[in-house]
Amino acid sequence: MTKKQRIRKETAISMLKNDHQKVKGLFEKFENTSSSKAKQKIVSDALMELKIHASIEEEFFYPALRQEMDDEEGLMDEADEEHHVAKVLIAELEAMRGNEYHWEAKFKVLAENVRHHIKEEEGEIFPEAKKTAIDFVALGTSMADMKARLIREGVPRDAEAKMVGKRGLRGDSPAKKAQQKLQVPTKAA
Ligand SMILES: [Fe+2]
Repeated sequence: MTKKQRIRKETAISMLKNDHQKVKGLFEKFENTSSSKAKQKIVSDALMELKIHASIEEEFFYPALRQEMDDEEGLMDEADEEHHVAKVLIAELEAMRGNEYHWEAKFKVLAENVRHHIKEEEGEIFPEAKKTAIDFVALGTSMADMKARLIREGVPRDAEAKMVGKRGLRGDSPAKKAQQKLQVPTKAA
């Protein structure tokens, strides 16, 4: 077997785990970087990684799991919602340049959401998935093909990107109420 063939034999689960390591590394790098130029590059790399990762999961991995896995707890529904929240933040970050108010906060919250999601996938979903009869080598091959295509051609706009585009959300935050000036009641000294 040549090296190239061995790479193509990567299972769906090991492929997703490698992606997880990669994005977690980018989150750490962001936290340890102070240059805003470097931060912008890290965010743009992380957004691309996450979009590709979510697309291949939603196209192959999640549908296969939904059909074959025993999911009494509703893990897959929760995973869908975590993808949704992440994709809204990704769409907002993509519409920003990186010097706006809330840009950094938005990316940090995205990182927290994704770290939590990774923990649930690796800790709860993957162990259940491994109990099924799914051929993760064959599934991994389809996922690797799709990944290569998305890297080549780009990731199509998803429903969240269209939603954010339509609402014309500004870069800061829709939670404007929390930023109003308030007559703050304080305790007597
Ligand atoms: Fe996921």
